[in-house]
Amino acid sequence: MAEKLFHRHLGGFPASILDTGCGTGRDLEYLAKNCEDRVGVDYQESMIGYARKQRPSIDSRTGDMRTLRLDRTFAAIVSFGYAIANIHENAELDQVMATYAAHSAAGTLLVLEVINATNPLPLPAG
Ligand SMILES: C[S@@+](CC[C@H](N)C(=O)[O-])C[C@H]1O[C@@H](n2cnc3c(N)ncnc32)[C@H](O)[C@@H]1O
Repeated sequence: MAEKLFHRHLGGFPASILDTGCGTGRDLEYLAKNCEDRVGVDYQESMIGYARKQRPSIDSRTGDMRTLRLDRTFAAIVSFGYAIANIHENAELDQVMATYAAHSAAGTLLVLEVINATNPLPLPAG
């Protein structure tokens, strides 16, 4: 999905990617094939510890998507696996959007995997 969006909106792979709520870094590992400048941030130190051990070529950092400030911008910012579903309050969503803005330049692509509350998957019967 991200690859298709990169091609559709950026004309190819971005030169840099920030993944917020990156967990173990599995998505960045996949995207790393075509992008060397990628930073993964997660607020669980255990996730970052695992990511650093298993995927040492990725810049994995402990941080909170509500308050993160890396003082740089990225060509693409992503968040997969419903990481943003952990943000519940409007004020906190505003904080996350401010984080995205702080790490964006003109043309930065934001790719968020979100739960579509208007079209939920059917629950199994019984
Ligand atoms: C379901 S996991 C998905 C991990 C990864 N994106 C994937 O798809 O494999 C959600 C992740 O979001 C992280 N997370 C939740 N709230 C966060 C926050 N405020 N800042 C940073 N990470 C957060 C959790 O620690 C968890 O690793």
